[in-house]
Amino acid sequence: MAQENAYKRSWPLFGIPVEGLIHPAEIFPESNRHVMEIGTGMGEGTALIAAAFPETGFIGVEVHKPGIGALLGHIERLQLTNLKIMEEDAHLILQNHFEDNSLDAFHLFFPDPWPKRRHLKRRIVQPEFLILIHNKLKDGGYIHIATDWIPYADWIQKVFASSQLFKGGKIERPEWRPLTKFEGQGVRKGHIVTDLKYYKQG
Ligand SMILES: C[S@@+](CC[C@H](N)C(=O)[O-])C[C@H]1O[C@@H](n2cnc3c(N)ncnc32)[C@H](O)[C@@H]1O
Repeated sequence: MAQENAYKRSWPLFGIPVEGLIHPAEIFPESNRHVMEIGTGMGEGTALIAAAFPETGFIGVEVHKPGIGALLGHIERLQLTNLKIMEEDAHLILQNHFEDNSLDAFHLFFPDPWPKRRHLKRRIVQPEFLILIHNKLKDGGYIHIATDWIPYADWIQKVFASSQLFKGGKIERPEWRPLTKFEGQGVRKGHIVTDLKYYKQG
């Protein structure tokens, strides 16, 4: 209910309609960097990161409406002005609504691991996804990924290693990445979290 109410109240203020070309620099004219987070979930981490980096403009992308409602509630509570949300599949958004070389970075935190063999094709990190994000990143741009599923971390490293489009690999967990409820539950179950960062080449 709280999520539904936040959605009704704040979607008109913080939602970006999925139409036409979206120019991050026009949405956040005060910001010197523009970052897209794919799959914001319940938005706890997204909102804390936006609060910690007020000079960066963040665009969250999520398909799960209750999660969007929860994120809108966090935006209201923290009075954020540098975070807006799009409700749609990230592939469609990037293919149809963003120009090439328009984003400084992507965040992809705890993407669905799809552990079953027959579901591996559903993992978001695929060779075609690398082409898509490579096109949308500015020169020097990067993607930061975190996962608590070791087989997915291995998969991610393989997909990136077989492409010339990015260079990078495992990094230390950065202090600024908040420990969300989701991550905490995984850690309590003994899951090991891997952070990975890949920079656009060429
Ligand atoms: C496991 S959750 C992690 C959420 C959050 N990043 C966190 O760390 O708690 C993955 C999220 O990605 C969203 N998602 C999956 N595929 C997506 C896509 N193609 N476009 C946008 N969101 C997507 C799901 O709806 C889900 O909320």
